[in-house]
Amino acid sequence: MVEVPTLAAHGLNMPALGFGTWELDEPTLDHILPHVFDIGYRHIDTAQIYRNESAVGRALASSGINRSELFVTTKVWVNRYEPHDLIASVHESLERLRVDYVDLLLLHWPVFEDHHMNPTLEGLMRAKADGLARHIGISNFNIDQTEQAVAFCGPDTLVTNQVEYHVYLGQEKLRRVLARQDLILTAYMPLAKAGVVNDTVLWDIGAQYDKSAAQVALRWLIEQDRVAAIPATTNPHHAKANFEIFDFSLSAEDHERIAVLDKHRRLCAPASLSPIWDD
Ligand SMILES: NC(=O)c1ccc[n+]([C@@H]2O[C@H](COP(=O)([O-])OP(=O)(O)OC[C@H]3O[C@@H](n4cnc5c(N)ncnc54)[C@H](OP(=O)(O)O)[C@@H]3O)[C@@H](O)[C@H]2O)c1
Repeated sequence: MVEVPTLAAHGLNMPALGFGTWELDEPTLDHILPHVFDIGYRHIDTAQIYRNESAVGRALASSGINRSELFVTTKVWVNRYEPHDLIASVHESLERLRVDYVDLLLLHWPVFEDHHMNPTLEGLMRAKADGLARHIGISNFNIDQTEQAVAFCGPDTLVTNQVEYHVYLGQEKLRRVLARQDLILTAYMPLAKAGVVNDTVLWDIGAQYDKSAAQVALRWLIEQDRVAAIPATTNPHHAKANFEIFDFSLSAEDHERIAVLDKHRRLCAPASLSPIWDD
């Protein structure tokens, strides 16, 4: 079985490659997750709003894999941000996921009443203190919000900001800030929602290693310092291909060719949830 490298930050050990589950409904997950675990994935990313935590829980329970080998992330939805309700919502998630704790608990979007994030951050820290989550973090926070959150929680508390990141969205400014704060960048939409799969530059690079454009796009992410990627697929063959990225390396020249693909192309920016982005 391939050993997936792990990322470390503030006591965290997160597999650098995970499996995303957004838009995968329960029957789809019932079908694909057993394949996903057989392939070797141990890191699963879900969220309350995906309405599929129960299917993830079923698959975790029937996988027979030791809890300590699994890495489960969920995210609190924005309508559960009042601190007591946040804790109640995490208990509900744990019940659906059939686990006693999640490895990582995130605030899904930076949407706070009167822009006041501190009470919600207190709730998040309470979830960790109560043992409901091993680690906590944020998602979709811009630079200013990330800095505010780190300042409030303290330097060793938040482990990641999960944001959109792929070859077409370079995230240069945010990456610099996260590196300075020693936070992992968890790259969502790492395949740009399948936008990378026909990219001729990525195919050309992949031809040197007998790899596809999608595999090059994922390899490019996980070769970077403190970057994890969580691609999603409904197709077991794609899940396997996305896992086969640990037997080759990109050259400095490959990295230079990929760097110029950055088009600041953001795919996930719902008006009611998005902060003012930094790019
Ligand atoms: N925190 C947030 O706000 C947030 C927002 C968005 C996403 N996320 C997380 O990030 C995960 C990944 O993002 P995403 O699902 O939106 O986009 P993605 O992983 O970039 O792309 C998924 C798409 O790529 C296709 N695909 C996957 N592997 C492929 C391969 N090897 N060859 C060809 N096509 C392939 C899939 O189609 P097939 O099914 O046909 O393979 C699907 O259409 C989500 O599932 C979720 O867990 C988080």
